[in-house]
Parts: sequence; structure tokens; C-alpha cells
Amino acid sequence: MTLTPEQAKKLVGEKAAEFVKDGMIVGLGTGSTAYYTINKLGEMVADGLDIKAIPTSKASEKQAIEVGIPLVGLEFHPVIDITIDGADEIDPDLNLIKGLGGALLREKIVAAVSKQEIIIADERKLVPHLGTRSPLPVEIIPFGLEVCLTKLKPMCKDLKMRMVDTMPFVTDNGNYILDMYFDKIDDPVKLETSLNNIPGVVENGLFIGLATSAIVESEGSIKILQRPT
Ligand code: 5RP
Repeated sequence: MTLTPEQAKKLVGEKAAEFVKDGMIVGLGTGSTAYYTINKLGEMVADGLDIKAIPTSKASEKQAIEVGIPLVGLEFHPVIDITIDGADEIDPDLNLIKGLGGALLREKIVAAVSKQEIIIADERKLVPHLGTRSPLPVEIIPFGLEVCLTKLKPMCKDLKMRMVDTMPFVTDNGNYILDMYFDKIDDPVKLETSLNNIPGVVENGLFIGLATSAIVESEGSIKILQRPT
């Protein structure tokens, strides 16, 4: 059975909500797939589920408030039981590219302190190598724009500043995003370190070793992938 993209997002987004239990601190991802998880969790809270949530973006925070999910600050719960989030690419080791939605910085902070990081996606996001389907977003401080453009350009095939019409896209943290294009990323671990060593770079969208499992839609049914040990 072939699902529409929206049906696939709803299927995996709602499936992931089943892993959320009473008493948990829950990281809320960002994007059009995480949207369905947040809506479902709102319904579950209305039916008595007792959770506190930490959103990864202003958009997810607004949606969570609208659907009645109680929120809490990361400063009060620096360890998160479970986070459910989307991704732009997933490799066979469950390493990811994230950030096409622009929320990579908060998403990565939350993922780094989550006991379980469940990724929800449709099968098209599965790739043999990172960098083959999606650009790699890099969040940078506006003051460092020229420096970062100069440093990042020789590291990729193409580099584009993310724009909204004629204005730079500004993240929830007041920063810019540079999208790096590759044929494929040969060594994601090395690239992640190299990027974060550039002054002006705040964070990049490589999520290495952070996802614990992925719930993926394939031909109308669900596959659950575990990170290889
Ligand atoms: C936002 C993200 C999203 O999780 C990623 O872009 C996937 O979004 P979608 O579910 O809309 O495809 O990383 O920063």
C-alpha cells in the first residue's frame, strides 16, 4: 500500500508516541513529522498521560502549548527520558543529518542528553551515505558570516546561505544557517569535529551516535531500526 507523504508522517509520528509513558520527561522534536507526535501526545495528555516536555524550537513549543502538553525547562531536567524527532537523512548506523527545519542546535542539545532518541521518517530519508540527498546545515553567528563562508567553501561542493525571500533565515537562537552540499560525506565524524572547530560555527547538523532507534514507514507499514551495537 502506498501512503501519501502526510499519511506516512502521521503513521510514524503517532507510532512513536506509544513509547512515551507516565512520568517521563519528553523531548519534542521539530518539523512536519514531529508535528504528528506532538498532536498525538496532546491527545494522550488529555486522556491522563502524565509527562513534562522540552520543545526543541519555538514552533514546537507553540504547538505543545496549543495541544495542552505541560512544558518544563531543560535547566530543571537536564536528563531527558525520550526524545522523538525527525531527520533529513539516516545512514545504516543511524547517524543523521538534521536541520533542514532550522532547529538543529536545540535538537542536538536535547538529543545529547536523551536516554532514547527515536527518529521518525519515511523510507526516502534512508541513505547509504550521509550527504547524498540533503545539504548539511551549519548554524553560525552572524558576526562570523564572512569568516565562515571563506572557511566552509573549500570543504564542500557548494555552499549556500539559507534565505527567506531576500533576507537571511534567522534561527530561534538569532543565528544564520549555511547549507553545505556534497556528493557524499566520506568521514562524518571527522567533518563534525572540523566544522565545530571553526570560530563562528555554533553547531552543525551531523548527529553521530545520538539516535537510538528509528521508526520508518515503508510501503504502508512500519519498520523499527535499532542503532547497531
Ligand atoms: C528540523 C529538523 C527536522 O527534524 C528535519 O528537517 C525533518 O523534518 P520533516 O519531518 O519536516 O521532514 O531537523 O531542524
